[in-house]
Amino acid sequence: MSGILQLHGIEKRFGDFAALRGVSLELRAGEIHALMGENGAGKSTLIKVITGVHAATAGTMELEGRAIRPGSPREAERAGISTVYQEVNLLPNLSLAENITMGRQAMWGPFIRHGEGRRRARAALARLGVEVDVARPLGACPVAVQQMAAIARALEQRARVLILDEPTSSLDAREVAELFGVLRRLRDEGMGILFVSHFLDQIYALSDRITVLRDGGYVGTWEAAALPRLELVSHMIGKPVAAAEACAAKEEASAGPRRGAVVEVAELERKGVAGPFSFALEAGGATGLAGLLGSGRTEVARMLFGIDPATSGSVRVDGRVVSLTSPRAAMAAGFAFCSEDRKVEGILPSLSVRENIVLALQASRGALRRLPRAEQEALADTFIKALHIKTRGPETPMGALSGGNQQKCLLARWMAVQPRLLILDEPTRGIDIGAKGEIEALCAELRRGGLAILFISAELEEVVRNCSRVVVLRDRQQAEVLEGGAISLRQIMETVAAA
Ligand SMILES: Nc1ncnc2c1ncn2[C@@H]1O[C@H](COP(=O)(O)OP(=O)(O)OP(=O)(O)O)[C@@H](O)[C@H]1O
Ligand SMILES: [Mg+2]
Repeated sequence: MSGILQLHGIEKRFGDFAALRGVSLELRAGEIHALMGENGAGKSTLIKVITGVHAATAGTMELEGRAIRPGSPREAERAGISTVYQEVNLLPNLSLAENITMGRQAMWGPFIRHGEGRRRARAALARLGVEVDVARPLGACPVAVQQMAAIARALEQRARVLILDEPTSSLDAREVAELFGVLRRLRDEGMGILFVSHFLDQIYALSDRITVLRDGGYVGTWEAAALPRLELVSHMIGKPVAAAEACAAKEEASAGPRRGAVVEVAELERKGVAGPFSFALEAGGATGLAGLLGSGRTEVARMLFGIDPATSGSVRVDGRVVSLTSPRAAMAAGFAFCSEDRKVEGILPSLSVRENIVLALQASRGALRRLPRAEQEALADTFIKALHIKTRGPETPMGALSGGNQQKCLLARWMAVQPRLLILDEPTRGIDIGAKGEIEALCAELRRGGLAILFISAELEEVVRNCSRVVVLRDRQQAEVLEGGAISLRQIMETVAAA
């Protein structure tokens, strides 16, 4: 195995902040190399330097022995480095075929030969085992297909290096398995693959070697098979294994004080979509929704928050029926909804961290009762500290934060309104293991203060760890409600899988 891509002493500064401090790395042909580190460690920044989005402030790169310094993603691509971004970065209005062949279209005089392009796109996708209509606009395809299109594009460009930044965060288990199958095949054909993920299981299932970054610095590179998990986590957080153990350990599901039901959901249904559902959400309790992707988890959340209102059934808060016909009505009932999709849910990248955090609270007060600046600053400070949000300060634009830290700001936004019921849809997706612990601890703290939580996560361990009651969903219906000691991974899986 030979080094295909070499980085030497890569440094990247944003103003006086060093996001990368002398990172060296060797990617070999025919390996899958994982890049690991906590939120804000510099993973995405390193990838952006390699793919020509950012110019390094210092350091050099070599691809197959030749010095390169790509000035744009297109240049990197021409040199042989292709990428699948955290949020896929192709052109949604163009067809799959156009996205796959763009920049290398077959021409007939001044005309693009679309038929030829479609044939090539189909062939590239076929190599990945994907069969779709390549004339469809990219934006109309599921994320999994969009990613396959990005990879097909890499094949079509004869890429030597493929880079993926958190490609699995919006895929279901079957799609992840398919993606991994493709990546293994490309590796075996000699491609060098650099891969970022926060899922330790995935890292170990897939990678040959692992490199860890911490605070913009290079920590080390190991053979995956020779690096125990706890040691990996300890390298990531920069603390001895004992501390990593505490981080990774299962926290007791601290039940918090029971104060009877605050929210009672009865026969809630959206006709033809999902339901009926009946369960209670207690003050101080966390109720989990568990089930496969597509089992109706998100639909329940959207009904409760009035985004897609229920067509029948009722919801009572402290015994009084509330109308949940719009998000505004749901907010008035004391509900808050932190959804899984940071892009859609409105991280406003050009507004500051402070403005993003106070947004929901300000909205609930109405435009005329502006939150005084001092109060905004105090709130922002509190949450930056409580959630360990890595930012230079409250006035930094949100877009300058790493993905995981943006996710924490979103959570802060909803915590700031001090809701009666907080609906968390995949709250820890894209968040590193240290911060996961912090968020879980914070949820426990809020529950002690009497908040009720509806917790939705695809990670069943997380549901088991955090919830005092679990509603198991199957085929968009309620299959079972588990409580206390009856909650176990095994029981949930058996219910999910029951025919
Ligand atoms: N455009 C930018 N301007 C200023 N600072 C930035 C910019 N992009 C990134 N940073 C900072 O650089 C650091 C590294 O960010 P990066 O996005 O590389 O982290 P990451 O390891 O990918 O984290 P995550 O796991 O959360 O995605 C962070 O502190 C971030 O705030
Ligand atoms: Mg990132």
